[in-house]
Amino acid sequence: MGMIEKDSKFYPDKTFVETSQINSLEMYRTMYERSVNEPESFWKEVAEELVWFKKPHTILKYNFDNRNGRIFHEWFRGGYTNMSYNCLDRHMGTENENKRALVWQGEPDEDTREFTYRELLTEVCRFSNVLKKKGLKKGDRVTLYMPMVWQLPVAMLACARLGLPHSIVFGGFSSEALMHRIQESESKLLITVDESIRGGKTFDLKSNADQALLKCPSVEHVIVVKRTGHVSSWKEGRDVWLDEEINSPDIGDFCECEHMEAEDTLFILYTSGSTGKPKGQVHTTGGYMTYVYLTQKLVFDLRKESFYWCMADIGWITGHSYIVYGPLLNGTTTFMYEGTPLYPAPDRAWELIERYKITICYTAPTAIRALSRQGESWPAKRDLSSLKLLGTVGEPINPEAWMWYYENVGRRSCPIVDTWWQTETGGIMISPLPGAAPTKPGSAQFPFFGIVPRVCDPGVEDFEKQGEKMKPGETGHLCIEKPWPGLSRTIYGDHARWEQTYFYQYPGMYFTGDGCYMDAEGYHFLQGRVDDVINISGHRISTAEVESALVLHKDVAEAAAAAKPDEIKGQSIYVFVTLKLGVEPTEALKKELIDHVRKEIGAIASPDTLQFAISLPKTRSGKIMRRILRKIAENKTDDLGDVSTLEDADVIRDLIQNRS
Ligand code: WT7
Repeated sequence: MGMIEKDSKFYPDKTFVETSQINSLEMYRTMYERSVNEPESFWKEVAEELVWFKKPHTILKYNFDNRNGRIFHEWFRGGYTNMSYNCLDRHMGTENENKRALVWQGEPDEDTREFTYRELLTEVCRFSNVLKKKGLKKGDRVTLYMPMVWQLPVAMLACARLGLPHSIVFGGFSSEALMHRIQESESKLLITVDESIRGGKTFDLKSNADQALLKCPSVEHVIVVKRTGHVSSWKEGRDVWLDEEINSPDIGDFCECEHMEAEDTLFILYTSGSTGKPKGQVHTTGGYMTYVYLTQKLVFDLRKESFYWCMADIGWITGHSYIVYGPLLNGTTTFMYEGTPLYPAPDRAWELIERYKITICYTAPTAIRALSRQGESWPAKRDLSSLKLLGTVGEPINPEAWMWYYENVGRRSCPIVDTWWQTETGGIMISPLPGAAPTKPGSAQFPFFGIVPRVCDPGVEDFEKQGEKMKPGETGHLCIEKPWPGLSRTIYGDHARWEQTYFYQYPGMYFTGDGCYMDAEGYHFLQGRVDDVINISGHRISTAEVESALVLHKDVAEAAAAAKPDEIKGQSIYVFVTLKLGVEPTEALKKELIDHVRKEIGAIASPDTLQFAISLPKTRSGKIMRRILRKIAENKTDDLGDVSTLEDADVIRDLIQNRS
């Protein structure tokens, strides 16, 4: 087997194409046309591949234009279903019942766990019964602050079974970040672990949780998963060990699932926008389920024998959709790894692929760059011949990283799907379907079924004329013209913000916040964020969040954050800080401020570079000129553009001279 390379395009080989589900450009085009011209019948048919307790009476109702009132979209109204049922019960009595659903590998080699679909169903039911015993009722929110332990997907499916919206907080976030998310969602229960294990170290998540809970009166119960067995604090009456609860004699092996209306909330997931604190994206039962089911099936071209590994953390949307829900909805075996791909040796990922005979590997460009740094000899030593398909997600992939992945991991035999999407979109939006058309390095290719992208001209002044299309090759703002089932419904508790963030820039369309161009063949090339969001290793942090964290420090007068290009992480955080009068700008203070941000938000938000400035560049009306700070962070100081509106030109001189 081998790919064919022609005119810088990469064609899947014949055997791959022959066995793939969407196996020609023509087939893709025919289905695509139908999906956008008759979205209702298209999505109704997809939904019918899953189990509904009651069929929907209306497939789609929406308004995307703020000139016509409230913005909303609703899918499968009147339909009743359950995510946990479709991931588990649906497979009982089929050939999937005794197939492996979840294979978990801990960081220490001897820690492994496997569940067939039947076993996973039982485990989830038992967990659901524990939650029920705690008195939780449909609609109550549950926060999960957990690392990559197998109990995390079990807990998610247990919440989904009972109609308890889960809000997962990535285990790398600080207690402050956790506190904010619990307070906002008013969760009644928190599920966490004693300690997490990563890179040979342990992290005391329980004490972070305890710290956060000091200011979270809504939380009545805490369920603690045992990973290391070591806890530094415990609150009697509130905290319980999962092991003790789930093994109690009154916990049964089965639990009925709630019948959820299609638009009932399945989960909330917080993500950074360009302003303020992270926003809780609300995803619903019917639409999200249908969208994730189909994207997983076709983008990864799942086969009966697929053994699929998505390297993301479940704390992010990638893990929600494509470690847990997508694979299980499709009856696929999903592999979950606790640690990092570089520990204990730089070939950990390749060794696991070899050992488990993984067929599909889905990861982020940042991981590919970090792994490629270690040299080709690491993947070369391993037998990676089980791999059939590779995927990437999270940030634009530079063609060098794409080629490295293609040659050293895929051995020139595996198509690469570069999947573009967002926390808001629920599932993959623009991506190759691997058997349908040749790929180009750096391009996410064509829209998925039902998705109508438009590259809009950002320079149009007239409001009524917004949305004019850019010509091929020209970068503009990427918008989506029509609704699709996976898009979030609202920002938890703040619908107006959801409308403003996504629907006010280009009337009638969803604004993605990304720059993009399309080439003459219709291939999309994503260019990164056009707003104040920094993408660090595929994770979103807003400049506003970093700035608010910094100004909380007693010595800081003002702060501004910008993205700095980074070879491994894609971008890193560069901050400019002005200090209060009389405070000395020392190296020790620099370190203290960086630690302060880490404490407020988490390690992923810690600035790589911090520059003290006498003042920040401002316009005469007092607005910080971010454009200039961005240029300085990018080290493009000979190209600052127009600085005529600047209040004080000396400020720029100081910023350039003292560039860190
Ligand atoms: C932002 C969304 C969705 C999963 C992980 C990130 C960037 C994502 C790609 C890609 C270029 C990409 C965009 C997007 N992004 N995938 N294949 N090519 N850029 O989810 O944290 O919501 O971030 O990630 O800028 O807006 P997220």
